[in-house]
Amino acid sequence: MSSTPTSGSTETATAKAAETGRLTARELTLAYEDRTVVDSLDLDIPDGRVTVIVGPNACGKSTTLRALGRLLKPRGGAVLLDGTELSKIPTRRIAQSIGLLPQTPVAPEAITVSDLVARGRQPHQHWWQQWSDEDERAMTDAMERTDVSALGDRSVDELSGGQRQRVWIAMALAQETDLLLLDEPTTYLDIAHQVEVLDLVRRLTAPAADGTRGRTVVTVLHDLNQAARYADHLVAMKAGRIVAEGRPDDIVTADLVREVFGLEAVIVPDPVTGSPLVVPGAPWQATPAP
Ligand SMILES: Nc1ncnc2c1ncn2[C@@H]1O[C@H](COP(=O)(O)OP(=O)(O)OP(=O)(O)O)[C@@H](O)[C@H]1O
Ligand SMILES: [Mg+2]
Repeated sequence: MSSTPTSGSTETATAKAAETGRLTARELTLAYEDRTVVDSLDLDIPDGRVTVIVGPNACGKSTTLRALGRLLKPRGGAVLLDGTELSKIPTRRIAQSIGLLPQTPVAPEAITVSDLVARGRQPHQHWWQQWSDEDERAMTDAMERTDVSALGDRSVDELSGGQRQRVWIAMALAQETDLLLLDEPTTYLDIAHQVEVLDLVRRLTAPAADGTRGRTVVTVLHDLNQAARYADHLVAMKAGRIVAEGRPDDIVTADLVREVFGLEAVIVPDPVTGSPLVVPGAPWQATPAP
């Protein structure tokens, strides 16, 4: 691996190697024209888990996510799905396996909420059957889970930022893919809806009653405390490289926050979950009296 493991990640790396997931990146290099943004990145996404990517603005999180969803072609290396390079898999098969919610999706003008969510079903449709009961069920389910059922006939253009974000999440859910890539899904959401969406993400990865593995989610989040709460696997990026990855308990330290964000912080246990809580600011020191 090209990344520099931080404390505790050697063990994690060993455990991880034993359970290589369906989606992996190998020596992935991503560039826009002549500017390399992600450099020789190796990443294994654990199946049936929530992987959260964190890192400062412009470090390459969205670029990486877009490459994992084949929206961006690698300059070097590859993204593999079940061991096959994405570039060698038919688009339709990828769309049936991987759903991607970009950071700033653009809706067709004047489209209604129902029509936009219905587009999530396109990879499952055939020329002989445009819309099935299964499509209807998936769409209704996705809209209920994201609390947008009442908005069905509204135009997406006229929604609030948070409503629109939930509609996009509904569209991604309606696709019912095993792998779901979400770029900052909580942007614009009030705190209750943020928690709702992240709880939903958690539930998606839970195994079914019959033991079937849950879905695999990779999401970019900016809130380190939410990331530490919800991630099974946390990936910290800086300047196009992975600085640390592993369980939040193992990798979220004051040193890591300083290294990745250049921020002094104190790490305390989250009073609700016990996960690491990042409190910005150096430990308080008394200023000497004048
Ligand atoms: N379409 C593009 N064309 C050229 N450069 C781009 C393009 N998209 C992103 N970049 C550049 O690539 C770098 C990484 O961008 P990226 O969007 O991956 O960052 P990010 O980590 O997602 O940041 P943020 O937290 O702000 O969303 C940035 O310097 C950005 O300016
Ligand atoms: Mg981004």
